Amino acid sequence: MRMRELNPIKKISGTICVPGDKSIGHRAALLSLLCCEPVVITNFPGAADCQSSLQAVQKLGVSVDVDGNMLRLSPPTSIQPDPDTLIECGNSGTTARLISGIIAGTPIEVTITGDESLSSRPMKRIIDPLTEMGAEIFSDDGHLPLRIRGGKLISFEYRLPVASAQVKSSLLLAGLASGCSATVREDTITRNHTEIMIKELGGEIQVRDIKPVFMTDPKDPRKRRMQMPESFKREIVLPQRAKLIGGEIDIPGDISTGAFFMAASAISGGPLTIENLGLNPTRTAFLDYLKSVGAKVDISDRKTVSGEPRGTVTVTGGKLKPRRISGETTVGLIDEIPIVAVIAAFTPGTTIIRDAAELRVKESDRLEAIAYNLKLMGIKCGVLEDGLAIKGGQELSGADFRSFGDHRIAMAFSIASLFAVGPSTIDDESIVEVSCPEFYDLLEKIRG
Ligand code: S3P
Repeated sequence: MRMRELNPIKKISGTICVPGDKSIGHRAALLSLLCCEPVVITNFPGAADCQSSLQAVQKLGVSVDVDGNMLRLSPPTSIQPDPDTLIECGNSGTTARLISGIIAGTPIEVTITGDESLSSRPMKRIIDPLTEMGAEIFSDDGHLPLRIRGGKLISFEYRLPVASAQVKSSLLLAGLASGCSATVREDTITRNHTEIMIKELGGEIQVRDIKPVFMTDPKDPRKRRMQMPESFKREIVLPQRAKLIGGEIDIPGDISTGAFFMAASAISGGPLTIENLGLNPTRTAFLDYLKSVGAKVDISDRKTVSGEPRGTVTVTGGKLKPRRISGETTVGLIDEIPIVAVIAAFTPGTTIIRDAAELRVKESDRLEAIAYNLKLMGIKCGVLEDGLAIKGGQELSGADFRSFGDHRIAMAFSIASLFAVGPSTIDDESIVEVSCPEFYDLLEKIRG
């Protein structure tokens, strides 16, 4: 643990680039294993989580050549690790859940482990469907370590019981690895980087959005009303024997990392500009959130590269107002809730966050971790079963914050400390390396 002292500042401003998107980085590394030609990646993040994915595919035979900002990942002709191969996923839930899908669909037997935090996170959500597809998985009561014996799987249709891009991706990767078809249905649309990258790497995948239609009212045939023809929102179909070729993937800046800096701007006034920021619509809920609470968000230089939209985003703070967040909005903000809670602390009035029970099984119990740190600053914060109620706006005092071993908690409260009265500390600055090793250097850069 490396404690860090944090001092208040008046204002932030400037122009930065944040490191490459973690979710896209994972997928670029992991999908390279299933390609028949190399994958050349630019702007691969230095995040420890993505390095876990890189090391995982190396253990399964991918060779990695580094050339400046470029990685060339060359797949093996066949995946043949020896049976005592151990894949260490560190803190990374995405590595563990996605690589499990690949192993489940490959005729190999491998063990997957993780650090203490990852070993306490639920894996049943992938174990159950992958087992139904035909893989054999032994676990510690639904937790890591997992011993997976993969092979030929059977075609599979699955409606996600939790909104999770990791579960969706795990099943799609199992289908890709095994050559069986996989249909995944989502009630709430989750990030779609896997679907985009499968296409970018030459694979075939169909995505069908269920749109509301006019239906005749059965009670009164003269009336017509809008209705969803299906109970789910999106269907993703990976056909049988889908094959990946390879290609080039350029990774935009990570909007979930950018959110911390944009929040600093929203609280203090800014303006702050982030260039080349990922703007995939499944990831931009935070920009809508900022606008809805009173900040100004301008986007320029929009373009799409490697199937992923991106642009330059400038955030200027305004008079902040509280709001209620629930349902699909919470899902869209799932990684941003710690920093949303910090914005709420600086916003007069009560912010309510609901439908966020998933936050209890992230890198820490984020609901408890957020409430603990907000209370240290003198904020009234109620912990609900599935959310938080935060009464903000009063003067906040600096504090000795705890990260709970969670990168996003450390970054969120490092931002809070900038606008508190008096100095603060964070118990472990090194934890930010999980997603953004450059975090404190970037903060220095935007001190006004
Ligand atoms: C991720 C999906 C989300 C997110 C995580 C990254 C991904 O997790 O919270 O940080 O890259 O697929 P869930 O799938 O568990 O919601």
